[in-house]
Amino acid sequence: MSAWADSKISAGQRICLVPTMGYFHEGHLRLMRRAAKLADLVVVSLFVNPIQFGPAEDLSRYPRNLKRDVDLAANEGVAVLFAPDQEAMYPEPPQTRVIVTGLTEGLCGRSRPGHFDGVCTVVGKLFNIVKPAAAVFGRKDYQQLAVIRRMTADLNWDVDIIDHPIVREPDGLAMSSRNTYLSPLERKSALALSKAIDLAGKLVRKGILDADRLLGELEILINMHDNVEIEYLTVVNNHDLTVQTKVDKNSLLAMAIKVGKTRLIDNSMLFE
Ligand code: PAJ
Repeated sequence: MSAWADSKISAGQRICLVPTMGYFHEGHLRLMRRAAKLADLVVVSLFVNPIQFGPAEDLSRYPRNLKRDVDLAANEGVAVLFAPDQEAMYPEPPQTRVIVTGLTEGLCGRSRPGHFDGVCTVVGKLFNIVKPAAAVFGRKDYQQLAVIRRMTADLNWDVDIIDHPIVREPDGLAMSSRNTYLSPLERKSALALSKAIDLAGKLVRKGILDADRLLGELEILINMHDNVEIEYLTVVNNHDLTVQTKVDKNSLLAMAIKVGKTRLIDNSMLFE
């Protein structure tokens, strides 16, 4: 991979990287299409990164279908689908981590200790291997995007970090490889997330800018769904991810819920 990248770069070509864990859905494919507009060559990495999963998380049952992913990526004109095995990425258990502080303290970082260290470490390795001029990340994982932006700036990686809007199913559910875990009933409950976003937009337009009041209404709506447990539901500043008590033009509604055993996340700017 690295030798291929070197040869393309010395021939004057720009590489755009789309890091993924595979089991592609339309969200991943849109990121690939976006990447194609930004560079001469698109590299998609597919690696289910063990060091970003906690001991009680879904590493072993994470959905995989390499054959289907190869076909889907080929259809998008991807130059290389880089799918290293564990042995290639981590020939020895890594003793190094890239750790971003501050931004990783709240939201998903709180309930998934070490998760972003694993994400940053693998993305850093991918930047070094693929040497992209740009890399595309989805806003679906908003905190991940913010953390990677910060890591890239702090460590002087010369990579443009491009963000892509959340791609949703027709009924509003944000696409995710993890949606395949949902039973038909859980799939209905999962709509609590996008319904909460819709309601939040309506309430903000009505002038409800007090975060506690807003979140109270959203909590009632979410808890009306079966088998749902709120992990976090909060309003944060979209740059530094600090909690806000009053909604303003920088406010991001961010949430994580468990539907049955499946953890789902979603977010939206409140003044969009
Ligand atoms: P994965 O969950 O496979 O997601 C790969 C990329 O697709 C991420 O940038 C994610 O934000 C984006 N994405 C997923 N669902 C999306 C949707 N519905 N709309 C828009 N973008 C979406 O995120 C990871 O993998 C890993 O943590 C990774 C960055 C590859 C590091 O291992």
